Amino acid sequence: MQYEPKLESIRKHPVPEWYHNAKLGIFIHWGLYSVPAWAPLTGELGEVVAKEGWAAWFAKNPYAEWYMNSIRIEGSPSHQYHVETYGEDFSYFDFVPLFNEATQGWDPTSWAALFKKIGARYVVLTTKHHDGFLLWPSRHPNPKIEGYFSRRDLVGELTEAVRAEGLRMGLYYSGGLDWTFNDTVIRDIGDIPAAIPQGADYVEYATNHWLELIERYEPSILWNDIAYPAAADLKKLFAYYYNRVPDGLVNDRFTQRFEFSDQAIGGSIHFDFRTPEYASFGEITDFKWEATRGIGYSFGYNRNEGPENYLSVQELVHSFVDIVSKNGNLLLNVGPMADGAIPEMQRERLLGLGRWLEVNGEAIFDTRPWVTAEGSTDEGTPVRFTQKGDSLYAILLGTPRGHRVAIEGLRAEEGTTIYLLGYDNPLSWHQGDRELAVILPDDLPESPAHSLKITPQPGRVGNG
Ligand code: GLC
Repeated sequence: MQYEPKLESIRKHPVPEWYHNAKLGIFIHWGLYSVPAWAPLTGELGEVVAKEGWAAWFAKNPYAEWYMNSIRIEGSPSHQYHVETYGEDFSYFDFVPLFNEATQGWDPTSWAALFKKIGARYVVLTTKHHDGFLLWPSRHPNPKIEGYFSRRDLVGELTEAVRAEGLRMGLYYSGGLDWTFNDTVIRDIGDIPAAIPQGADYVEYATNHWLELIERYEPSILWNDIAYPAAADLKKLFAYYYNRVPDGLVNDRFTQRFEFSDQAIGGSIHFDFRTPEYASFGEITDFKWEATRGIGYSFGYNRNEGPENYLSVQELVHSFVDIVSKNGNLLLNVGPMADGAIPEMQRERLLGLGRWLEVNGEAIFDTRPWVTAEGSTDEGTPVRFTQKGDSLYAILLGTPRGHRVAIEGLRAEEGTTIYLLGYDNPLSWHQGDRELAVILPDDLPESPAHSLKITPQPGRVGNG
């Protein structure tokens, strides 16, 4: 279908099947801030804001990619670190040659191979973060700072490597903040509206960038951040994009009036999916969403983070399964070092998730939410459900203590077969009054989660 620059037309755009099927994407935050790679270990977004408020968040911002803002807050830990390490006179823009030097030896194929190996189906790269630095050689260079772009075409090279592995490529662009156009220091959430550049020059600059990124790289996702200048014609941009990439998606952060809630930034005229950050929806939603977070407290690489600040593989698996059961994808962030090395601790978590998916991926990829997301065993082990074809997957978030595990609220019909993913032989089972009991294999290894495949799909006790 041909899209027109009208709301009724762009709103007809369906969420493409590939995106429903994909479940796991890798977000990459890479830029000048990867050189200092420094932020205090303040904690996870939602928790810090709930306990201490936004002003405390920005004063000791654990997002390393916010370094340029953080060092402009007098007395902040980042300001202090910057002065001690680089000196008063070293400006943020002095990181440009260091970043360009560091990226010379980067090998995009090693990233793509790793993401493929762990089972990710798409990648989203920051093409321009809030600092305004461009990761591709644009026809529309930054008019404020000369040479403010990457020497290598990091966007193009990664796009090519990712596609060569059969993965999709999406692009992130900070449309709402560009500190080279508006250098308002953000000390509180209320400072953001005034920090969004609204001038005609910026409207043109940002939109030219999106148009250029679409033409050059045909991204599968337009992942805009924070907001978008109010005067921009997004209906036109989206129609152009959908006509060029019909199975592409736009996220929910093209907001032209800034509104903030704990789930997401609201106020977009149109979106294909929502993007809770360090947060999740608690139930199956009728809209598609994508949870995003760093493995630790930051998106950009933060050299201060240790294993205690990172999600364990088990936490990662549990939250991923929970997200998928509720109609979400996970866009898990990787923060590479300036030279493109993926920090060992992050790699280890990714590989752990990948190992779990090797056995259990069938219960995740290409599935859809079932009629309910959550269940429990009679021992209290949480269960999450997904479905595909004629099968229900019941994913146990833990390793049961005994051989017999009973899932509450399920009723299997005679002739049902039940498999534990990773094992060849069907399991014996028994239908109780209110629960479906399954006998597990003797040699069940410890694993973050175990997936039962039940065919045909059982009914629910009490719900027919
Ligand atoms: C945010 C942050 C940011 C990060 C991101 C990812 O709003 O400002 O640093 O890029 O969203 O979701």
